[in-house]
Amino acid sequence: MKNPDKFEQQTSGAYRLVLIIIALVVIILLGGIYLYNDPDLSYFKNSGQDSELVEAAGDMDEYNKVENGLHVRTGLIDAPGLMATVNNCTTCHSAKLVIQNRMSKERWISTIRWMQKTQNLWDLGDNEEVIVNYLVTNYPPKKKGRREVLTNIEWYELKK
Ligand code: HEC
Repeated sequence: MKNPDKFEQQTSGAYRLVLIIIALVVIILLGGIYLYNDPDLSYFKNSGQDSELVEAAGDMDEYNKVENGLHVRTGLIDAPGLMATVNNCTTCHSAKLVIQNRMSKERWISTIRWMQKTQNLWDLGDNEEVIVNYLVTNYPPKKKGRREVLTNIEWYELKK
């Protein structure tokens, strides 16, 4: 090797070139991955988002509209405790399931316990009382339609 300095310069030059190429490839790859996930560069476009938020806020009124005493979206009766009930009781199943079931306080509570035990219903905290009151007030057991519970019956034992 006559000129080691020159060789060193050349190799380090080539080495640098390789590093630059690798860096470029990495940048292009990352850019490609980013574009793949966010093709319209929405991450960098903040201006549009604010107006969308305002629109969404306006929609919320529409979303929870009450007409003729009924919460339009769910059909639940508009009364104290409505929104706690809407928020906690209409995410897993339709509100129809709630509306169709008219129960006493004890049975509403035991239905809630049953869902908590078997259906992953969360702890309702202070809302439980609000919701149960709402349900018993607005969806109590039907007074008429079904026959009254039988009373004063002389039961007899079945003979084997
Ligand atoms: C985590 C999910 C979940 C939430 C939240 C939930 N439920 Fe349920 N609930 C269920 C499931 C699952 C069933 C069974 C559905 C079926 O049988 O098709 C059910 C069934 C019911 C039934 C019918 C019970 C029966 O005996 O047939 C009633 C009434 C009911 N839920 C009321 C409520 C009320 C009131 C709330 C709010 C406190 C509520 N649910 C919140 C999951 C949930």
